[in-house]
Amino acid sequence: MFQSAPLNPPDAIFGLNAQFREDPNPEKINLTVGVYQDELGETPVMACVREAEQRLLEQKGSKSYLPIDGAPQYQDGIGKLILGDELFHSDQVFSVSAHTPGGTASLRVAGEMLRRVFGVKKIWMSNPSWANHPKIYESAGLEVERYGYLDHRGTGIDFEKVTTSLESAQSGDAILLHTVCHNPTGVDPSPEQWQKLGQLIRQRDLFPIFDFAYQGFGESLESDAYPIRNFIEAGGEALVCNSFSKNFGLYAERVGGITAVTFGADTAKAIQSQIKSTIRTMYSNPPLHGGSIVSTVLNDPELRQRWETELEQIRIRIVDLRQQFVDAMQDRMPDHDFSYILRQRGMFSYSGITGEQADILRDEFSIYMLRSGRINIAGMNHSNIGRICDAFTQVLSPVKEA
Ligand code: LMR
Repeated sequence: MFQSAPLNPPDAIFGLNAQFREDPNPEKINLTVGVYQDELGETPVMACVREAEQRLLEQKGSKSYLPIDGAPQYQDGIGKLILGDELFHSDQVFSVSAHTPGGTASLRVAGEMLRRVFGVKKIWMSNPSWANHPKIYESAGLEVERYGYLDHRGTGIDFEKVTTSLESAQSGDAILLHTVCHNPTGVDPSPEQWQKLGQLIRQRDLFPIFDFAYQGFGESLESDAYPIRNFIEAGGEALVCNSFSKNFGLYAERVGGITAVTFGADTAKAIQSQIKSTIRTMYSNPPLHGGSIVSTVLNDPELRQRWETELEQIRIRIVDLRQQFVDAMQDRMPDHDFSYILRQRGMFSYSGITGEQADILRDEFSIYMLRSGRINIAGMNHSNIGRICDAFTQVLSPVKEA
């Protein structure tokens, strides 16, 4: 039977990452996968995570199964982080959270549950969106539709395009929203645009899934949650899929969550039972270690403070790298406007580089980036930024006639 299996192309993101690893050039630069790298090009374990692991090691512990939806203190930790203390403790708002193996699993659980329990058939997502989004939802049996997102230059938002394309969305369709630090573009709606989008979603009776993979990378842990909190405060129900891969640097531990927010205790209980039965048939119950680290940090005031400080340092460094990159490009190409890179947020930017130019960067300069033009700003550092800018200048400059 296996002989009939066709060969799949490599994954658009991890395939390139694998090519990068095989490149023997000692000067190679990795701007592909969304992983934070420090000044030395390394992805260190955060100090608060190391400390939490140390504490866990000293406890007696057990490796017995977790509940299907994870440990209660982990669930509360996610709920408070996403909703903020006020909404989390409000007697009008009821939320239930479950621990999932990373953001990908929570997105898939959301899709499975919406289709199976509520008969949702279609999900709308921005064009472009994270390369895995359409695959996750097609695999969950949903039809994927796109709403327009970028302006004609492909570096900022065209909000009218967003609202116009959603005019053909039907009541009961799902809509996937990047809460902050849009992947792959770094282009986010403004707070006013979020309010309008929220109104439109409620008026058209669409169901939102907020993908929240970058809390803390935009402006702060609190203000990055604005799109979700604003939507709920205005009376909307939502699913939130969050990940601790990036903001805890726990990529390989696969730790995230799904949170459903509604307005009645019984409804919340029923949704929790549906989330649990969806999980039970997919992976049964979540892995322990990453969730224990997150719970330990979130529930200890001193460790939590250390986490917030470390996360802020990461965010500030990425903003600083954006500035350095723009200054260096502006010096090399004064007629070209790179200021959009400063308006984009988070790890990623749509650089304006084409697929062909990305191929040249890879083949001739050993600089790896996605063919969509997405670059991981966090892959830059003081020692490689000059080389990146020189190479970008070469591929972006018009060829001069001899
Ligand atoms: C990315 O977009 O590079 C990351 O979210 C990693 C992944 O799983 O694709």
